Amino acid sequence: FTVDMDPNAADKGAYPFYMLKEIDEQPAVMRRLVQEYLGANGKPQIDEKLLAQMQEADHLYIVGAGTSYHAGLVGARLFERFAQIPTSVHISSEFAYEQPLLSKKPFFIFLSQSGETADSREVLVHVNENKWPSLTITNVDKSTLSREATHTLLLYAGPEIAVASTKAYTAQVAVEAILAKALGEYLGLEAAQKFDVKDELAKVANGMQALVDSKDEIEAIASHALSKPRNAFYIGRGLDWSVSLEAALKLKEISYVQAEGFASGELKHGTIALIEKNTPVIGIITQSRTAGLTRSNLEETAARGANILTIASRHLAKEDDSIILPDVDEMISPLLSVVPAQLLAYYTSLGKGLDVDKPRNLAKSVTVQ
Ligand code: G6P
Repeated sequence: FTVDMDPNAADKGAYPFYMLKEIDEQPAVMRRLVQEYLGANGKPQIDEKLLAQMQEADHLYIVGAGTSYHAGLVGARLFERFAQIPTSVHISSEFAYEQPLLSKKPFFIFLSQSGETADSREVLVHVNENKWPSLTITNVDKSTLSREATHTLLLYAGPEIAVASTKAYTAQVAVEAILAKALGEYLGLEAAQKFDVKDELAKVANGMQALVDSKDEIEAIASHALSKPRNAFYIGRGLDWSVSLEAALKLKEISYVQAEGFASGELKHGTIALIEKNTPVIGIITQSRTAGLTRSNLEETAARGANILTIASRHLAKEDDSIILPDVDEMISPLLSVVPAQLLAYYTSLGKGLDVDKPRNLAKSVTVQ
């Protein structure tokens, strides 16, 4: 198969590593998605056949691996909130061999940057054998998962070269938000009608720009807090927990810090035993319902010696928060909270003199099970 690619888009230019270039491209990717998927009046331009098939489903099954699985965790909340269809998220290598009991009318959503991940394809083959409808959300047009699914939505993120995925994650979340809005509107649901996804994604693009422009501060935090410790925690609740998992994966894969993303309320049920003097614990705080609880959980770790850092939305921020995020609708806050985490991982890896783009033992696209 062939892949359409603008060769200039894959040029590193003045950047030392592709990963930093790809982090920086995220505001432009958000604006491109607005152009591709949202009309002048802000209405999503999504194929009606896709919406009709999705609205018939009694359950959405999101399937993905690695970072794509993490984008799915956010997507599930978006689909449940705006389209009110029960949604579950599955790691493809698990689903392929331990298939859960399915609902009567399943609809499958495959998330894959490359569209080639063997674990996900294994599930799609099975889905097709059963003639269940499916959608692939991918960055690569005509990729295997795109060709074999019933529908495709593209990420329009341009080639992603660094092994650690950044702009594909935010593009996946943005496309999920647009699709959830489109589906909810199609179903006549008020929450979806009220969600001005076009305006919110424009705010996200500006917010991302402000964050990538504050690189120096984030680099200073990385060198101060993350350069020496061998382990670290990201914690949060709800969507902040979902982002914690992705944030921890970034840190693990490129800086080799053993990082864990954890539901902050669950720490006290065992894992807090791992907190030692100076263990970095980074709290993500973007959800008003749980902000206070996550702050208390951070204090509990501080009382055991943790070095606490915070990534908080402006409307929930306190004076001594480490990184403050511009405000957007809380449902799409992952699009902003993940950016400092990407940068913290990048600068930790860079500071250790590692090959940021090509971490040991990893491949960009994994075509074996
Ligand atoms: C590999 C990459 C990860 C990626 C995962 C899923 O493990 O190193 O960055 O998230 O595959 O890839 P996909 O192309 O399906 O999103």
